[in-house]
Amino acid sequence: MTAAPTRLALHGDLLDFAGAPGWGDVDAPTVRWRPDHWLLVEDGRIVAVQAEAPDASWRPVDHAGRLVLPGFIDTHVHMPQLDVIASYGTELLDWLNNYTFPAETRFADPERSHAGAELFADALLANGTTSAVVFPTAHKVSADAMFASAQRRGMRIVTGKVLQDRHSPDGLRDDVAQAERDCVDLIERWHGTDRLSYAVTVRFAPTSSPEQLAMAGALCAADPTLYMQTHVAENRDEVRWVRELFPKARSYLGVYADAGLLHPRSVLAHGIWLDDDDRAALRDSGAHVAHSPSSNLFLGSGLYGWRPLADAGARTSLATDVGGGTSLSMVRTMADAYKVQALAGQRLTAWVALHAATRGAAEALQLGDEIGSFEPGRMADVCVWDWAAEPVAHRRMEVAAGLHEKVFAFMTLADDRNLAAAYVAGHERYARRPA
Ligand code: GUN
Ligand code: ZN
Repeated sequence: MTAAPTRLALHGDLLDFAGAPGWGDVDAPTVRWRPDHWLLVEDGRIVAVQAEAPDASWRPVDHAGRLVLPGFIDTHVHMPQLDVIASYGTELLDWLNNYTFPAETRFADPERSHAGAELFADALLANGTTSAVVFPTAHKVSADAMFASAQRRGMRIVTGKVLQDRHSPDGLRDDVAQAERDCVDLIERWHGTDRLSYAVTVRFAPTSSPEQLAMAGALCAADPTLYMQTHVAENRDEVRWVRELFPKARSYLGVYADAGLLHPRSVLAHGIWLDDDDRAALRDSGAHVAHSPSSNLFLGSGLYGWRPLADAGARTSLATDVGGGTSLSMVRTMADAYKVQALAGQRLTAWVALHAATRGAAEALQLGDEIGSFEPGRMADVCVWDWAAEPVAHRRMEVAAGLHEKVFAFMTLADDRNLAAAYVAGHERYARRPA
């Protein structure tokens, strides 16, 4: 890794959150807007924010007039699925069988895993995502590759070998004993190394036997610092199948609860078809939902009930779910989230969306003291954005009245073209090439 310049001062329009904004509140008092300020970074960490230009002991980087945000946190995304992004014509279960499982089978090859993880990590950074909770494949080598690619870039990544021992093709199935050995070895080598954490990664209930779910639960019970990630209640046919496979469970989410897989470090993707008892179980366990709007639209899965979950006191973060999702851009994801909520009869403010992609996600992952905001002491994972990248957006920005209107227009119109630079722990890891 290259040495970080010890003292760096980033100049621009700083936006982050001091706390969670209220649903529907466009004047949320927790929005921290510090235009024309300096973000001071020392040894990879944020040390201060100030209005005055710093003294000559700081190396200034002038992004005046640009939007400076904490790096985005994508809480659910599949490294090997860049190969199937934008695949035509299916809902979840056929999409898995026709496209996704065959593509993931190829990650048994260490070279495919290495190349895939490298491409993926660079693509995250080029979209302004500095942290992610990632599914690799069932192959141990794919988890190793993902950890190594993240480590080379200094990124905060949570990942773990996918567990799936049934209803999966040859070459993509594990078994309980070998999977447990692989998990234990990966945990020993990677969990807590640099900025990496291990997630016990259950693909979803249909592809794990009850014995494998019990093994996963035992791993979580043995070490409460481990994460758990899986999918839940994404698609109606999937929900019906889970009911057939686990007739004794109260609900799909109940399958995971019964196996000891719901805890404060559990990340559940989708959660579209939940009921009130499920929402209460999420609140009580501290587990949270990674809402993946572009995937839900693309696969026709349904409209996520963000408001009911918030009202129940449980958390939602935002995720791309590539390759069910169609873009690694968290900005596009926020725009899609607004549209999903519009169809669900709700209005998603820019503040709730942006918070769920930064500080809210960090806190849901129990990483609020490391990432997600510009509080002193946080790692300097920072992205610098042009407010507008093309004439239509420029015009919209000119006439925007007030901060929410401006940020909402940014969230709706921007994408990776707007990203000027991405810093990870104070290192510049992405810089847009000059036009
Ligand atoms: N459910 C089980 N596996 C997957 C996957 O790879 N993507 C999505 N969107 N849902 C899943
Ligand atoms: Zn997924």
